[in-house]
Amino acid sequence: MDRKHILDLVADMSLEEKAMQMTQLSPDLLYQLTPTNLTGPLRVWKFSDEALWKTGSVLGPLGAAFLKKLQKDYLAKSRQQIPLLFMTDVIHGYVTIMPIPLAQGCTFDPDLTEEAAAAVAREAAASGLHVTFSPMADLVRDPRWGRVMESSGEDPYLNGQIAAATIRGYQGKDPREKGRIASCVKHFAAYGQPEGGREYNTVDMSRGVLRDFYLPAYREAIEAGAAMVMSSFNTVERVPATCSRFLLRRVLREEWGFEGVVISDYSAVEELMNHSVACDDMEAGEKCVHAGLDIEMMSGVYAGTLQQLLDQGRITREEINECVTRILELKNRMGLFENPFKDADEEEEERLLYCPEHLELARRFARESMVLLKNQGVLPVSRGRIGLAGPFSDTGNILGGWHCEGKPDRTQTLLQALKAQWGEGLETAMTEHFIHGEADVPDRVEEAVERLRDCDICIAAVGEPEWDTGEATSRTNLRLTPNQEKLIHALHGAGKKVVAVLFSGRPLDIAPVLQDCDAVLQAWFPGSAGAAAAVDLLLGKYNPSGHLSMSFPRNTGQIPVYYNHYETGRPETEKENHYTSRYLDCANSPLFPFGYGLSYTTFTCGEMKVSEDLGKVSVRVRNTGERSGETVVQMYIRDVSASVVRPVMELKAFRRISLEPGEEAQVEFSVTKEMLSFYNEEEKWVWEPGAFDLMVGLDSEHVERERIFIPAGTGEQEAL
Ligand code: GLC
Repeated sequence: MDRKHILDLVADMSLEEKAMQMTQLSPDLLYQLTPTNLTGPLRVWKFSDEALWKTGSVLGPLGAAFLKKLQKDYLAKSRQQIPLLFMTDVIHGYVTIMPIPLAQGCTFDPDLTEEAAAAVAREAAASGLHVTFSPMADLVRDPRWGRVMESSGEDPYLNGQIAAATIRGYQGKDPREKGRIASCVKHFAAYGQPEGGREYNTVDMSRGVLRDFYLPAYREAIEAGAAMVMSSFNTVERVPATCSRFLLRRVLREEWGFEGVVISDYSAVEELMNHSVACDDMEAGEKCVHAGLDIEMMSGVYAGTLQQLLDQGRITREEINECVTRILELKNRMGLFENPFKDADEEEEERLLYCPEHLELARRFARESMVLLKNQGVLPVSRGRIGLAGPFSDTGNILGGWHCEGKPDRTQTLLQALKAQWGEGLETAMTEHFIHGEADVPDRVEEAVERLRDCDICIAAVGEPEWDTGEATSRTNLRLTPNQEKLIHALHGAGKKVVAVLFSGRPLDIAPVLQDCDAVLQAWFPGSAGAAAAVDLLLGKYNPSGHLSMSFPRNTGQIPVYYNHYETGRPETEKENHYTSRYLDCANSPLFPFGYGLSYTTFTCGEMKVSEDLGKVSVRVRNTGERSGETVVQMYIRDVSASVVRPVMELKAFRRISLEPGEEAQVEFSVTKEMLSFYNEEEKWVWEPGAFDLMVGLDSEHVERERIFIPAGTGEQEAL
């Protein structure tokens, strides 16, 4: 449908029809089922049945048959035959569940991320979905916040690469194509930095920090073509993002040229009154329209106020038409006017959902996402009797938060995967999983030590229950539960080699047990094929290659701890000076740093060279071990002195490489003016001549460093 048709449709709409296009509800409301109260209060509004069926989009359950019926029922009542838009949270998989996004970040593999997102899109599209509320591009530094699981970590560049790859996977070249869905990037902006790590709490930071760290990944997502943006619950500079003209108009539309649709988060429009920036629905509606918020999710402010706001001259018809036009253009971009059912197809569902190819892809993705944190010669397991204990020994609850239609009860467990790959010589104990509402698993430690007494290696499958991660799951204590810690200490105390396999949606505080573990494999929530992937690594069929996308703290008191921090006037390095930036009881460095990950082989990274024209940096990487393996070569920069403080290091490029034993490779990175640029005090995107440190390494703590000096006058935005 061409733009003129869209404009004609908008011109022909009543105000009520426009207001309902700008409202997103649950299908339960349309069918008058029990109103759902998922997150936040769903105020029962005085919608007429007729008005409900005018809503422009719905969020919630998928299923080809259901959504085809819904679309048919909807169009039968639609005066203008404008199709309904279906959206939901397919975050890291629909039925075949991939590793959680925080784990995906640890792959440092945009290509594989894109391939997996494309598989996820095929499944969701076959089940009738049009738009997914993913990727989440929020930068995170605080593991007390349960939604760090949905982010790809603490680095702006890595987050941008992963978000862009995810969007390419979902949308392909055109989301209208078969098997593609549109992406709604979220939560714009800076939702990942709530004070105290407490969910929905205030976010407050300088404009410079917002620009340096929290905005770049969303911008990458917009440049990758994200069809929609979801504004975040939190405030930015004392204004809720939901009605922030700075974010939604100046940054998103004027600076970044975004022309797609902006949707609020769930009931966030109504929550402006809780934020105390609106005294009533009228003011909430007025502020959101002025900010250019196109769709209100699951609250009835627009529906209840737009007519009066227009009559009172507090908003204009043009503002409303702008929102409605964008919504219809999105529907048009998805091809829904020509084919309102898009890819919904029961047979295709049957063929695609949880298919072997997708499970194999999920297994590969999970393998690459797991991070070997410690290994004192015990992994890979090659012989002897294996003991398996802990709450993640025999459970399918390893899918993570937002696991959509993934089914824990049909997900292979670690025990099943070990039996399938290791066979006999396997003993188990204390395998009960967590029970909702119970703070710990039962203490069967004594019995476990007894039962595993003849085992050579004991795998402790531990972590946090998946329902304690994701939205509204902030925690102040990140340690393993007492009985899990007790299990590890007791097995070690009994002289066993202990391999901890950690299932979590965040970096946990594992310092209390680290000493008693001979090896630690961070498995995250690895998805539908995660158990098989973990066993692939434990038994050495594959070599671990994940590198941390988020730092592990030494304890909760150290949070936030992250690699790309600004320096202080009294760096900790000045040891002789008592008055330096440090703690009395803890080192400043994290337990495990960003970019870190071990392998079953060893690599060296050295002989760094910078080209004459300063535009290239290269390094020689060698596999100095006995087996092939992959690693991630990372390039960082530091602006040594600038008009505003700059981070001590910033990731600007990375590359996964695979090397045979003894093999070496020369890895080369370009150094561009873009990499050296930042927003100055006047919020101008500049680079400033002077000294820069170029760093290359296999994690953010062990790098080769070379200082270069770039004189003034070098051309802008070009290779140096
Ligand atoms: C939730 C989340 C958001 C999600 C939305 C719809 O509150 O904040 O990420 O997409 O509601 O489920």
